[in-house]
Amino acid sequence: MTFEQLNLKKEDKIAVLTIAREKKLNALDSATIQELHQAFSALDADKEVRAIVLTGQGQKAFVAGADIAEFSSFNQQQGEALSRSGHEKLFAFVENLSTPVIAAINGYALGGGLELALSCHMRMASENAKMGLPEVTLGLIPGYGGTRRLGQIIGKGRTHQMVASGQMISAEKALQWGLVNEVYSQEELISKATELAMKIASNAPIAVSHSIKAINAQYSNSVASFETEIQLFGACFATNDFKEGTSAFLEKRKPDFKGD
Ligand code: CAA
Repeated sequence: MTFEQLNLKKEDKIAVLTIAREKKLNALDSATIQELHQAFSALDADKEVRAIVLTGQGQKAFVAGADIAEFSSFNQQQGEALSRSGHEKLFAFVENLSTPVIAAINGYALGGGLELALSCHMRMASENAKMGLPEVTLGLIPGYGGTRRLGQIIGKGRTHQMVASGQMISAEKALQWGLVNEVYSQEELISKATELAMKIASNAPIAVSHSIKAINAQYSNSVASFETEIQLFGACFATNDFKEGTSAFLEKRKPDFKGD
């Protein structure tokens, strides 16, 4: 398998998949989402691979979100389609994989980047990592499952705080809130994630994949459905605030939201 936006290394039953758009802080454009879908499908079908570590290229970012430049001119329908196809191809897809996926959060995990980490089965972070859902600063809401998965992990009140404020939290706070399972120095992160992956790989593969299904089943009947998020994410694209928020980001200035 060769990829333009990803690096893949397989060794001793472990795959390390790296999102490689370092200049754009590994932001998820549609080509990267498509390649991630292909890579995860192939790794899940590969019986030699027992666990996957997912990380971002460089020392600054895991993933800084969905690619704002790509969707800044989208209308409501396109916004809804963006969210729906992301859910299907990547976020729900990873969550429901039979192979366990460990997110090694090596820097910023923002918006769709944190949502990708939330779709993984386990999260570890480096000490410099910063996590947040800053979509409201762009006139949006999280559109890749964050409104549901974050609440399942850190609870409703903290989720409201993170989503409505758009503020980032440190790795230390993320550990305290249970958003990540472990924190290590940046130098140690991948080897510690690989160590956990190897421990998992030594266990019975069918039992491990059944455990993922069983655990996911406990969280699948939530009243807050992804459909609500998809439709409200799309509705944000019909507002002037969305146009102002995304233009302000791309023009590197502060947005002036009018509430329309
Ligand atoms: N989309 C597109 N490009 C992005 C990006 C993103 N999410 N995040 C960073 N970049 C680009 C920047 O535009 C910049 O590109 P240029 O060099 O071509 O100008 C490059 O990556 C480096 O970024 P900065 O110069 O901004 O780096 P910084 O150190 O000053 O700031 C940061 C880092 C705080 C992470 C800042 O880049 C940032 O705020 N990024 C956006 C975070 C965000 O809002 N994410 C949510 C996206 S929306 C979303 O994900 C929707 C959804 O749920 C489906």
